Amino acid sequence: TWTAAGIIDEQVAAIRQQVGDGQVICGLSGGVDSAVAAALVHRAIGDQLTCVFVDHGLLRAGEAEQVEKDYVAATGIRLHVVEAADTFLSALAGVSDPEQKRKIIGREFIRSFEGAARELAAERHIEFLVQGTLYPDVVESGGGSGTANIKSHHNVGGLPDDLAFQLVEPLRTLFKDEVRRLGVELGLPEPMVWRHPFPGPGLAIRIIGEVTPQRLEVLRAADRIAREELTVSGLDRSVWQFPVVLLADVRSVGVQGDGRSYGHPVVLRPVSSEDAMTADWSRLPYEVIAKISTRITNEVPEVNRVALDVTSKPPGTIEWE
Ligand code: XMP
Repeated sequence: TWTAAGIIDEQVAAIRQQVGDGQVICGLSGGVDSAVAAALVHRAIGDQLTCVFVDHGLLRAGEAEQVEKDYVAATGIRLHVVEAADTFLSALAGVSDPEQKRKIIGREFIRSFEGAARELAAERHIEFLVQGTLYPDVVESGGGSGTANIKSHHNVGGLPDDLAFQLVEPLRTLFKDEVRRLGVELGLPEPMVWRHPFPGPGLAIRIIGEVTPQRLEVLRAADRIAREELTVSGLDRSVWQFPVVLLADVRSVGVQGDGRSYGHPVVLRPVSSEDAMTADWSRLPYEVIAKISTRITNEVPEVNRVALDVTSKPPGTIEWE
């Protein structure tokens, strides 16, 4: 029978076997998968692991702090942080095309990561790279499923061939719910284990149009409200993911306060899913939607309209880009 403890024992042994006394690095994205993969490798080889967190400035409110403080406190992992927000935002300036955004982010991510790896290599010879690849990632990135090239996911198969590391992928056979059970068993903080999936390119693919610091602020504020209200409703765990999307190039007329407003819409995209390959829009209670809508239009002055996405996947994808 499947138990988290059993899988952990098995993987710890496999990791020790593969790595020996070699040095290992692991990129943390802020998501569950890389967090659990790193914790597992840390359990196996302790101090031979160094984690790298590239803060690309495209995370949601509070997420970078969650990695830099809470995760380190819970695990004792050695963390190297790359502050790369300015680099990413400059590279994204003027870009609206979704695939273009993904390619730029993928490229900048590799540059930042390789830079960090070079710095670390000065102190220790690194032979291994941990990836939090899950079974559905393996399938969706070219394992023959029809969805292979719909979007360029930047964390799978996106690393250059000349990267001088051997891969350690302890989650390759697992599904998300199994990874969460491993996370709990490994003692990771609940908010991190139950965090909804979040795409590597972050908020950049939830701003429809060019990504600017000001637009990121607007989306962060709206997204924070949606997440807070979902948590208050107690429905966090029945929703797979809850993207909030800013239609930054669209404006509509409204009345806010004493006068006319000409602001931007945000779209709420709560979905239910087993593995993100297919999804349905979540039938959230109207009161929850209403509360989110009222709060966003009251508290985020740039947003004067809130829409609900009622499209399943297919034909829609979960993210808008
Ligand atoms: P779509 O939008 O294709 O998304 O239905 C399926 C799942 O994948 C996430 N996603 C990504 N995750 N890097 C990631 O790590 C990416 O480039 C990426 N693009 C989409 C998305 O949030 C959903 O969970």
